[in-house]
Amino acid sequence: MDTLHTPQEAPRHTMTQPIVLKIGGNDIDDPQFLRALAGYVAGLEAPAVIVHGGGKEIGALQQRMGVEPRWVDGLRVTDEETLAVVEMVLCGRVNKRLVRQLLAAGVDAEGLSGTDRGLLRARKLLSEHGDLGRVGRVTAVRGQVLLEMLARGVVPVIAPLALGEDGEPFNVNADHAAAAIAQAIGAAEIVFLTNVRAVLVDGVPQPSLGQRQAERLIADGAIFGGMVPKVQTALHAVALGVPRAVITDLDGLQHHAGTVFHNGNGHGQEASLPLAAPVAAW
Ligand SMILES: Nc1ncnc2c1ncn2[C@@H]1O[C@H](COP(=O)(O)OP(=O)(O)O)[C@@H](O)[C@H]1O
Ligand SMILES: [Mg+2]
Repeated sequence: MDTLHTPQEAPRHTMTQPIVLKIGGNDIDDPQFLRALAGYVAGLEAPAVIVHGGGKEIGALQQRMGVEPRWVDGLRVTDEETLAVVEMVLCGRVNKRLVRQLLAAGVDAEGLSGTDRGLLRARKLLSEHGDLGRVGRVTAVRGQVLLEMLARGVVPVIAPLALGEDGEPFNVNADHAAAAIAQAIGAAEIVFLTNVRAVLVDGVPQPSLGQRQAERLIADGAIFGGMVPKVQTALHAVALGVPRAVITDLDGLQHHAGTVFHNGNGHGQEASLPLAAPVAAW
């Protein structure tokens, strides 16, 4: 990262590796949560990139428009009408609300979507379990765009839309988008901030999870719904070379709790692809 800026311009914190904070959609309309989150980000020493979801509000607007939300593999099936709702909610209400709250806490936040500057490119995500419609898998990330923002002390706040080859947007699961970004910018850590303290098995928080164990829990149904792509993505991020992935809530983050992910060898980095490599398809 030291080639990014001249020494006299470099804010001290850009010398450290960035972290990626993915904010889930369940609490993102709760003023108390937002205040606490913004305070947390303001106190971070590492430069941060924020990626957010907005599932609850997308669902609510879908209902008002008479569109029934549908899910396959924990991913929102996205027809044209749903795509319009996703873009309105994520790039509009949710993104700007987060940016306002961060600014109020003194964080120099700038909102953008994955389509802006072609930050995220995507192709249609294929599933064996049904047609997901306009859901994308990230195929490339312009990490440099984010690194330049970080070098200026700006905190990017990213709505997970992506640009398709046809010039139209794709809806990307925010967990997927965050992991692709973390890999592309060589993040030291990715945190999936959600509404549960950790991945639970029979109500018991799991301090860590490996690939095999996670696969079994998904097959058993102990991990279901939105937790499925989150766990798979956390494991994927670690396999791609992000040293650490954590699933937790804000309280867990503040108390260093949550579920930590490692690959089978317990050596995240050794088993990895080069950090700056274009993100692999998944
Ligand atoms: N084993 C599990 N442990 C904890 N939460 C789980 C588990 N399996 C499914 N979930 C569900 O996953 C949800 C989090 O996923 P999701 O709703 O997609 O949140 P986000 O908006 O943060 O992505 C939890 O609120 C919980 O209902
Ligand atoms: Mg989710």
